[in-house]
Amino acid sequence: MSVIRFGVSLEEHLMNALDKYVMENKFPNRSRAIRNLIEKNIVEKKWKCNNEVAGAIVLLYDHHKRDITTKTNSVQHEFHKYVLSAQHVHLDHDMCLETIVVKGKAKQLTELADKLIALKGVQHGKLVMTKTE
Ligand code: NI
Repeated sequence: MSVIRFGVSLEEHLMNALDKYVMENKFPNRSRAIRNLIEKNIVEKKWKCNNEVAGAIVLLYDHHKRDITTKTNSVQHEFHKYVLSAQHVHLDHDMCLETIVVKGKAKQLTELADKLIALKGVQHGKLVMTKTE
């Protein structure tokens, strides 16, 4: 793929923020960091569309709370077409970490993740998606 060069004008505080982003994420240069930011933005826009994506939903919850394991299970069965695998780790006496690997249309995966994350008792939840096409 050919690369096109162009000049970018930035306010000083944005340039400082960019340099911090480059350092923190160990990018070799600013171009790579900007490319990453653009791609991230494009992928996130695709969340609401019909593009094929793959990703993972991570859930953190206390398994004692309100039949939560039954509920997370039944939501996953409802969306079984999109669930490739689910891993349940017992972090300690109370807390569970569940990683659900998903593939399908961005819209559906977002709906599935929203349903799981909204369940009462889920303390933390996040969906990460990446384009597959
Ligand atoms: Ni557990």
